[in-house]
Amino acid sequence: MTDEELLAAAEECRANAYAPYSGFAVGAALLAADGRVFPGCNLENAAYSATCCAERAAFSRAVSEGARDFLKIAVVGGPAGAPVSRFCMPCGVCRQVMREFCRGDFTVLTTDGREIRRRTLAGLLPDSFAADALGGDR
Ligand code: THU
Repeated sequence: MTDEELLAAAEECRANAYAPYSGFAVGAALLAADGRVFPGCNLENAAYSATCCAERAAFSRAVSEGARDFLKIAVVGGPAGAPVSRFCMPCGVCRQVMREFCRGDFTVLTTDGREIRRRTLAGLLPDSFAADALGGDR
């Protein structure tokens, strides 16, 4: 699975985004260590705070299907109905959810339609609070 293929999977799922309030459609594709790809899109709610981002939708789907080890996630977002033209970085809540299952070398990919931006989770969420603080091993 190349980075381009993972971004294409995110773009495909972006078409399913449910974003009637913001009009901002996001797609994600999460690559598990066993090769499976779990797509997700944002799903908004009339009670705005109940909105779920595309990244968390992908993690929810993956964990629900038994995956626990992940290599990278592709994220693409922008105004619904238009091609992606700006990088879409994961929000802080999604970074924290990634940290629950992933170590610092987990990679986040995004594109502005021209270039691919690659970031590590350690770079996006330095000095993170995670299970190790509670006695876990991640
Ligand atoms: N959104 C995502 O799905 N992922 C992100 O990383 C940033 C924001 C969604 C949430 C909401 O539906 C819309 O984009 C505007 O914030």
